[in-house]
Amino acid sequence: MTETIKADAERAAPCAGLRIGDVAPDFSARSTTGDVRLSDYRGRWLILFSHPADFTPVCTTEFIALAEAAGEFEERDCALMALSVDSLFSHFAWLRLIRDRYEIEVRFPILEDPTLVIGRAYGMVAPNDSDSAAVRTTFFIDPSGVIRAMTCYPANVGRSTPEMLRTLDALQAVDNGPVLAPANWAPGEALLAQPDASLDTVFSAKGQTDWFMKETKRGARK
Ligand code: BEZ
Repeated sequence: MTETIKADAERAAPCAGLRIGDVAPDFSARSTTGDVRLSDYRGRWLILFSHPADFTPVCTTEFIALAEAAGEFEERDCALMALSVDSLFSHFAWLRLIRDRYEIEVRFPILEDPTLVIGRAYGMVAPNDSDSAAVRTTFFIDPSGVIRAMTCYPANVGRSTPEMLRTLDALQAVDNGPVLAPANWAPGEALLAQPDASLDTVFSAKGQTDWFMKETKRGARK
């Protein structure tokens, strides 16, 4: 590895340590709703996400949007858990400001991670970074504690709450059977069948694409 590549790998690498299919590392931390432990969320879906900093414009819009959509996550039996390097008292002051200015209460926990110990374990910050204000990572964790999807956005682009809900819907739909969620899939739309990888199926299929591209039952949320 050249020095440049090595330096880049050490610097960038958001989410790099963890992969889809890994068990989400357990941790406990202080939060705006009391002490929380990740493993206490087993049995439910969980979206764990980092934000660069309290009292910043894009982050504020994300928290307002997520608080407004809290009921929709609840309907999907999915808890939300936010995390940043800011102190618990900074989180409290920010939530109070959001409540007073935007008339919305953020009731899901926001964790403090002043030592970046969680942020580093989850690849939310690069191993040697002293600055956590780099990325917006999101982990979709299933009821058995397994990471099922991850996203990483830069500090200057906010996440889409509808897309977070859609990803959750798609993950829950594919868990209902051996089916696949196509591009832009939304609940109620057709899912795709798992392709049957046998040469007989390939040669006997009527249409050219029928052996690998077949719509199946309409997708329903669990
Ligand atoms: C924001 O949330 O607006 C933000 C946070 C960190 C850096 C840049 C923007």
